[in-house]
Amino acid sequence: MNMMANGSTKLGDEVQLDDLLGAVKAGAHQDLEHSETLPPMAYVSEDFFNMEVERVFKPGWVCVGHVSQVPEEGSYFTLDLFGEMLVIVRAADGIRAMSRICLHRWAPIAEGCGKTKLFSCPFHKWGFALDGRLLGAPLMEGVQFDVEGRQLPQVRTEVLEGFIFVNFSGDAAPVGQAFTGFAERIGKFKIGELVLAGELSYECDFNWKIMMETFMECYHHIAAHPSTFEASFPARLSYIEDDRKTWTMGASPARDSVPDDKIRVGLPLLSDDLTTEESRAFFLYQAFPSHLVSIWPDRVYMFRCQPRSAGRTSLQTYVFVRPEARELPNFAEIMKQEMDFFVTVNAEDIAVNEMQQKGAATSTAQVGRLSHLEKAVWQLADYIRDRMDA
Ligand code: FES
Ligand SMILES: [Fe+2]
Repeated sequence: MNMMANGSTKLGDEVQLDDLLGAVKAGAHQDLEHSETLPPMAYVSEDFFNMEVERVFKPGWVCVGHVSQVPEEGSYFTLDLFGEMLVIVRAADGIRAMSRICLHRWAPIAEGCGKTKLFSCPFHKWGFALDGRLLGAPLMEGVQFDVEGRQLPQVRTEVLEGFIFVNFSGDAAPVGQAFTGFAERIGKFKIGELVLAGELSYECDFNWKIMMETFMECYHHIAAHPSTFEASFPARLSYIEDDRKTWTMGASPARDSVPDDKIRVGLPLLSDDLTTEESRAFFLYQAFPSHLVSIWPDRVYMFRCQPRSAGRTSLQTYVFVRPEARELPNFAEIMKQEMDFFVTVNAEDIAVNEMQQKGAATSTAQVGRLSHLEKAVWQLADYIRDRMDA
């Protein structure tokens, strides 16, 4: 297919991956003053998406959850990522991520979440320990078969500040090194001590990068969130710090006229020594490629993103609070209001994200210029461009 100089595509032609890669790399190493989006086809092409899975996601660290989701030995939850079916479980020796596909004839040995002493396959009742070792296989005595030494394939996993990460390639630098400075930056909020207080799930008809970009930039408050955010956290006050190559951080300070109780919701504060800035803003973190966290004075949001295809992304959004918050007499009421607000804001974001995805697929879509308020969009684009050179 013919790629126009701006990286868009001619209507009716077939996308050629090499042309698209060339257009992606053409934007490498721009400075912020001249920064542009990736080509719109990078949000639409399935070939490019498959390349992102291999070059961006599998060699990196992908967050799959928070330690409070596996609080005790035997606690587990499942998720599907990049065609693999995983179970995340707290075993005697710590948190493990492993395939949940039976070693016999491939039925999943767990679904959803819960607590168990062992996993029993629903097909022929083979039993697996919490560390994935095969414990028993009934009615196999008529053939030569030994249960010893068999284990569900393990996926490398590490925990950083309460977030559970997996690395599919197995050879990434340890997560603390991969995200140098990230744990130190957020350590004062003690996120590993927090508990899950609310959860929302979405099946989204847009590319995973659109989700990341809208999460990180507050420029869109001005139009997409006129009453929910712009009135209190205006776009023009937001900023994003300079690139650290593997993670970034932005902030959306409140107008001076906004009272504190519009920023906090009445829950115990995450830290006894919040700075004035930390008390008067919310902060956005992205550990590349896809870990999204938003820190407010008394709560933390996490977005767990599971890219399915170029135009489809599963999303779970979580709210975490101090454990003692649950003792407050009005905790349920506070969380009800908070989740109502969260539903509204998510709907506003999803609406613009869907619009953007539809526009990106048209023949006239072109590379777009970025505002200084969208520095994180530029940073993510550069992260991807670098990996496409591999
Ligand atoms: S597929 Fe699991 S026991 Fe047969
Ligand atoms: Fe938004």
